[in-house]
This record gives sequence, C-alpha cells and structure tokens, in this order.
Amino acid sequence: MSKLRSLAAAGLGCLVVLGLLVYAHAGDEPATKPAGTPSTPPITAAVADMKPTQGSTVKGKVTFEAKKHGVHLVADLTGLTPGEHGFHIHEKGDCSAPDASSAGPHFNPTDKHHGDPGTLDYHVGDLGNIEADKAGVAHLAVYFPHLTLSSGHDAIIGKAVIVHALRDDMKTQPAGNSGAREACGVIKAEQP
Ligand code: CU
Ligand code: ZN
Repeated sequence: MSKLRSLAAAGLGCLVVLGLLVYAHAGDEPATKPAGTPSTPPITAAVADMKPTQGSTVKGKVTFEAKKHGVHLVADLTGLTPGEHGFHIHEKGDCSAPDASSAGPHFNPTDKHHGDPGTLDYHVGDLGNIEADKAGVAHLAVYFPHLTLSSGHDAIIGKAVIVHALRDDMKTQPAGNSGAREACGVIKAEQP
C-alpha cells in the first residue's frame, strides 16, 4: 500500500517537474528567436517620394497599399505639361543619375513585352499613363491586381517609379515611346 502511494507521489512529482520544464521552455521561446525571421509582419504599405530630374519641375508622391490580391496606388504629381504621361515602375531603385537613367528599364520579372496593363502581354512595371490637368496637376487612384509589395521575385519594394514627358502608346517596344524621365522615386516600405 505504501509502495503504491510512493509510486503515485513520484509520478505526480515527475508531472510537476515536466510541467515546469515545458512552461519555462515556452516562456523562453520568443526571446531566443533571432530578429527578422518569418514572424516579421508582411509589408502592407509603401511610398515613393517623386523628385524632379535635371531641368524638370515634376514632383510629388505615390503611395501603395497592399490588398488581398494586388495593390491600390494613389499618385499626386505637380509640374507636368497638360495631358497624359507614361507612368512605370523601373527595375532599379536608383534615381541618382540627372536623367534618372540609373533606374534602368521597365521592371519585367516575367519576361513579357511592353504593353497595356489591362491586357495579357505587359511588363509588371507597366502602369499605363497618368493625366495632368491644365494646371499640370495629376491625381490618380487605381487598383492593380498584378502588383505585389513584398512576396517573391516580382515584389515592387526597392524599385523606382518614373513619370515621363510623353504619353505611353502602350505598343512601341521597349518603353511605349514615352520620352524623357521627368521625375523618379524609390519605392520604400512604410512602417505600420
Ligand atoms: Cu518609364
Ligand atoms: Zn514596359
């Protein structure tokens, strides 16, 4: 009888010790995880501060908000000539050259032709045109289902937005014949 009781007591003791170990381990977990591992929240918003190239007066801001599928973009620009202007994401987040040539060609991770983002054959960076009013002010709010801020090789974070002098005809290769680069801004993640 007493043997049985001591066995039971030992068993209980083991359970308590085990429980304490599990508890202590669970408590340790978050502190031992290195920073920046998969628990990092996904990027939900980004902004490109658009600065004029040499000889241009075009400037403004483009914001990006991640949606379940795609990105909602809002652009506000000033200093444009009235009418439509080619509007793209270029592959390098480098606006350092006076003519923004440092931003490279259109962002094209899927190896397609230049075109209209409403069709099947277009660069990921093809955003069509942005239209300025008589005062040279442009406002565009549009949803692009083909864009993503953070996941995979086609993510647009770290690329550059460029506004051009001329209208993008969405046909001519490789850039829609849209002329000089008038403003450039690198797409940077915004902290929530
Ligand atoms: Cu462009
Ligand atoms: Zn293109």
